[in-house]
Amino acid sequence: MPDAAKAFYVTTPIYYVNDAPHIGHAYATTAGDVLTRWHRQRGEQVWFLTGVDEHGTKVQRAADAGGVTPQQWVDRLVADAWLPVLGTIDAANDDFIRTTEPRHIERVQRFWETVRDNGYVYSAMYEGPYCVGCEEFKLAGDLLDGTGEYQGQQVCPIHGRPVEQLEEENWFFRLSAFSDLLLERYEADPDAIQPRSAYNEVMSFIRQGLVDISMSRSSVSWGIPLPWDDDQVIYVWFDALLNYATAVGYGAEPDSADGRRFAECWPPDVNLVGKDILRFHAVYWPAMLMAAGLEPPRKVFAHGWLLVGGEKMSKSKLTGISPEQIIDHFGSDAFRYHFLRAIQFGQDGSFSWEDMAARYTAELANGLGNLASRATAMVGRYCDGVLPAAHDFTEAEHEIARALAEAASTADRAMGELDFSTGITAVKDFVERVNGYVTEQEPWVLAKDPANADRLGVVLYTICDSLRAIAVLYNPVMPKAMSSLWEQLGAQAVLGPLAEQRIATVGEWAQLPPGTLVVKGEGLFPRLDDAP
Ligand code: MSP
Repeated sequence: MPDAAKAFYVTTPIYYVNDAPHIGHAYATTAGDVLTRWHRQRGEQVWFLTGVDEHGTKVQRAADAGGVTPQQWVDRLVADAWLPVLGTIDAANDDFIRTTEPRHIERVQRFWETVRDNGYVYSAMYEGPYCVGCEEFKLAGDLLDGTGEYQGQQVCPIHGRPVEQLEEENWFFRLSAFSDLLLERYEADPDAIQPRSAYNEVMSFIRQGLVDISMSRSSVSWGIPLPWDDDQVIYVWFDALLNYATAVGYGAEPDSADGRRFAECWPPDVNLVGKDILRFHAVYWPAMLMAAGLEPPRKVFAHGWLLVGGEKMSKSKLTGISPEQIIDHFGSDAFRYHFLRAIQFGQDGSFSWEDMAARYTAELANGLGNLASRATAMVGRYCDGVLPAAHDFTEAEHEIARALAEAASTADRAMGELDFSTGITAVKDFVERVNGYVTEQEPWVLAKDPANADRLGVVLYTICDSLRAIAVLYNPVMPKAMSSLWEQLGAQAVLGPLAEQRIATVGEWAQLPPGTLVVKGEGLFPRLDDAP
């Protein structure tokens, strides 16, 4: 049961602003948005955070190459690309954090002062490989031998490029002190890291023994200065991870608005991350929090990659597809639906236009869109747009009512487990079931004989009340189309706003009152001519 005083707090990774977003970035934000909209629809208090990671060598080099200062670079990209993409994918985030904001900088400095006061920071020499693409100090076992032009060098397995050798006097975080605590925590709560493959990977990494890790950089200037050593900036990951705490008011006065927000949100219920940044989130991040006396996140969920030609989609490999390219053609609802239904969350998936167009046509345009337009058109044509009363439900209608209750409970269970694909499929199967009912009952045949008026009323009522429930269940996934459907069903006037309908009662049959004014509107999912 959700804790009433605790907001359900979900975060996405914060994205590097070395370049513009591609659909791999939009993927986690979409998942977080659907998850949090689902919890809102359950009536829970929710906080959904996303944002951008603006410091570090990678961003600095991109700015240098662009001939501007890092601050100018990030200001432009955030305004022109990263903020607009949230509108494009229809994200309803509660906050957006930038790591160059004063609220973040001050609180990060305060956090590390606390960790140092607690005895977990010391100065030492760092010597070893660093991947700028990952912004990560690598361990020997993390690297591959280069081939071709990189023959004789060690390369990062994610970026396929040589690592750089660093030799710096740094401040270190005593990560080694947390091996046992982390193991105990994860042994007691295996669901704290999901999916299971991610859990196993983290456990075997911790069992090898954790070594202390550099938490500052002396050769980098684009970062947050260490409060006790002006010559160093905080290592970009140990600045970035803290966004999840600084954005909700870590370090603020307890009775200030920010302090109250922190009390309400902490700890995060789900930190959503890509599988490539799992170690940072499931090992370093909880250890940092423990070192500061804060509770670690309740769950870290590692999703898979969107692949192109079997490899991770990436701007640096020029395989990035922008969300606009897809959404201009299919719309944001179809984008959200497709990526969460087609790919099992936690596994990799490939994107193809053909696949998306086929699913759009079959499941959205011909499936749900057609059901809605047939229903509203028939109520218009046969009943002057007034939802008829339904007397004498038969077994066919009872069967629909049972299918609805089952779809609602399967979807709720699956969405709660971040199994978006199963959740969406449960609703899609119900749509198909109702379309099957329409075909079986043939209301257009019933309408030919006035003696069938009562039966016609039952059939049209059943279709419309099913659509009422579908609008609620799909609202977190496809908010634009569902708000239009809600309007067309006339539900707003009689049941109130769509956002106020609750998942707990959506499966109860016959909620739409007879007499409701139904109006056929624009098609929910226009047919596509062909893919661009
Ligand atoms: N800035 C760090 C995260 C800091 S969080 C405290 C970072 N940024 S990133 O821009 O490189 O990646 C952000 C997220 O996008 C990661 O979770 C990464 O997995 C995800 N993706 C980047 N390319 C992706 C795909 N091709 N597919 C799916 N997600 C991918 O790492």
